[in-house]
Amino acid sequence: MTPTRVWPVDAARPDPAAIEAAAACLCNGGLVAFPTETVYGLGVDALNVEAVRRLFAAKGRPATDPLIVHLLGVAQLESVARSVPLLAWQLAEAFWPGPLTLVLPRRPEVPLEVTAGKETVAVRAPNHPVAQALLAAARTPIAAPSANRFSRPSPTTAQHVLDDLNGLIDGVLDAGPATIGLESTIVDVTRTPPLVLRPGGLTLEALRRLAPDLIAVESFLEESIAADAPGMFLKHYAPRAELRLYDGPRNRVLAVMRAAVRELAEADQRIGVLALAGEAAHFAGLPVEQADLGPEAEPEAMGHRLFAALRDLEGRGVDVILARLPAPEGLGWAVRDRLRRAAAGRVIEVE
Ligand code: TXA
Ligand code: MG
Repeated sequence: MTPTRVWPVDAARPDPAAIEAAAACLCNGGLVAFPTETVYGLGVDALNVEAVRRLFAAKGRPATDPLIVHLLGVAQLESVARSVPLLAWQLAEAFWPGPLTLVLPRRPEVPLEVTAGKETVAVRAPNHPVAQALLAAARTPIAAPSANRFSRPSPTTAQHVLDDLNGLIDGVLDAGPATIGLESTIVDVTRTPPLVLRPGGLTLEALRRLAPDLIAVESFLEESIAADAPGMFLKHYAPRAELRLYDGPRNRVLAVMRAAVRELAEADQRIGVLALAGEAAHFAGLPVEQADLGPEAEPEAMGHRLFAALRDLEGRGVDVILARLPAPEGLGWAVRDRLRRAAAGRVIEVE
């Protein structure tokens, strides 16, 4: 395959020539990665079945895991959704363009390859000038999963995309780091009451203002839900290092983590710590690689850094990563979710 092209573009005012080139590539069945406000997506023409198949192959993604279809906005919603319940209109009007994905009944024009055989389709309108310019130029809905190899952390920079997919995809629009850094929140609005399938860049607090009866479970271990909603699969990003999560009162957790570091060091393990701001000092003098997640009181900063920090620690060759779960407020909700998935649900509860 030809090498992957990189189109550097300004995030706010992308060069129309670069956008045209990327859109032409996509319309010819190409695989083009592009920035969104959440993470980088790997886009294909959602109506081109061959391109969709190539996308699954490039990612190494199981064909049972459906893709999100990206649109410019609510005006295109009925081009992919067969029917749109009132709540879906209300949520889309309130939060699009933005980090919210709605699961809706599929129109027959949307290939079953995109929806993994399901009669529903996941849809969102991204809030990023580059993604919007690409959608406008391509004049087709764009199916796009996160632009990582299957089971790797979602990419928040073009370099992350290239680290996973260089040579396997046709091009990437590089507009610098994604702002939010966590994928969109997914809500299944075909159910009553509606169900959160994946916490993400739109907070539960914001959603509940419009959908007070929304169901959101922190534990997505319930198999009955997971079977029906692939987005709930527990195992998601599987780090090369073992991830150990701790939950409980801050100072006690930090003491337990320090004891774990000493024990692991005795056993000649290379240790990484995902440290919240101000906590680095607690590991001073211990043999750990640290990555800073920022202050717990600023979950936006944590979300922005999480995936890059995990890639960074993996790159430093650690065997075990220790992390304290942040409080579930705001984006902390989604940060907890991503960490729990990466640890296959295991959490060490500290009294
Ligand atoms: O922020 C995002 O959502 C990013 C950017 C690129 O838009 N995209 C993203 O896509 O995270 P992906 O493929 O990595 O995650 C999509 C999730 C998957 O877990 C999939 O199972 C779920 O959405 N999903 C897609 N269609 C679905 C459907 N019809 N029903 C239930 N879950 C669905
Ligand atoms: Mg993904």
